[in-house]
Amino acid sequence: MATMIRETKAAPFAELPADVAPAYPKPWPALIITRAEIESEIERLLDLDRRPGQRRASDVVHPSSLQTGLAVTPGLAISINVLRPGEEVELFRDNATRVEFVLRGMGSVAVGSAKLGLAKWSVSSMPSMLKRTYRNDGREPMAWLSYSNSALLQRLGNYYSDERTSIARPPRAERSDVEQRYVAKNAPDFAIAGDGARLRGYEFVTDIEVVENKPLVWPWSETSPHLAAENGDGKRNLLLLVNPATGRRQGTTHSFFAALSRIPAGVNRPVPPRGHKHSSFAVNYHFEGAGESVVDGEHYEWEAGDLMLSAPAWGEHAHGMKACGASVLTVQDHPFHMSIGSLIWQEEMDGPILTLGSEEGQSGYVGPRQIGD
Ligand SMILES: [Fe+2]
Repeated sequence: MATMIRETKAAPFAELPADVAPAYPKPWPALIITRAEIESEIERLLDLDRRPGQRRASDVVHPSSLQTGLAVTPGLAISINVLRPGEEVELFRDNATRVEFVLRGMGSVAVGSAKLGLAKWSVSSMPSMLKRTYRNDGREPMAWLSYSNSALLQRLGNYYSDERTSIARPPRAERSDVEQRYVAKNAPDFAIAGDGARLRGYEFVTDIEVVENKPLVWPWSETSPHLAAENGDGKRNLLLLVNPATGRRQGTTHSFFAALSRIPAGVNRPVPPRGHKHSSFAVNYHFEGAGESVVDGEHYEWEAGDLMLSAPAWGEHAHGMKACGASVLTVQDHPFHMSIGSLIWQEEMDGPILTLGSEEGQSGYVGPRQIGD
């Protein structure tokens, strides 16, 4: 294949030459996967004949998805997983990270050396490169959504799983003198040009400081008491599920934050005339209530049980809730964008575009479109 060199142009996607980018992903529009579609797939998976230990799972695939990295939006794969009562499934280690949400049933997941209890509407965080064994300990089927960055890794060409091979690491005592000597704490480290630049030994990128990243669970029984239950009760409508391993990026995993919101019943909240936008995508799973959204000028109605790509990256979006209120799990790839300096946010369509994490951010806000009192 011949290498090409072309003059750099700031062309929109549609103007890229077809021979260079025939399958370049254009923005994927908002999408609703209805409760009926999800329930029907859960029942179909439960009815399948499976050998003990065989997985029952399906991927949710956006019609704009490319063949590599089947996804709901380019950075996010979502699978629907089920287990019959008493069933167990063991999944290979891989380098993807996950947020998971239990739709129904109860059980447990053994992740590395940890074991987490799972129950309806619990959220969990699964670090990369740990084997996971799920078990349905209840009397009813267990079903859960798994949100993963595997699709992004597949598209980048660097998704790894132990499915084909795995070699155990030797114990520390068997490592050579050289391996034990060339570590970050012994590496050279020089100040350069007096303004913060450093010149360092390569050990700094191969022997990186370890930050423990534990599998974590947020049971609904512990999160829900902190969310507003009645209008005017002084509690927040929106709270983040934060894994301390993600530091200042405030993620649930290193890629995603998950947030729970509950808007109490009693007041009809129409969609505001304009929305906001950010470079992170947002996917909402509505588990109570009903509402409507306007995304890039298109109107959508949703209700409990509907999963929605509610904000394609840099798509303008605004949401309203019906008088019955709503409870929502939101997943966004906010921490990923903060890691690579690409997290931009525009709260008002005629307002500034802020680079969150690199300059002073929004203040006064307690949630998107919500000003504290
Ligand atoms: Fe948003």
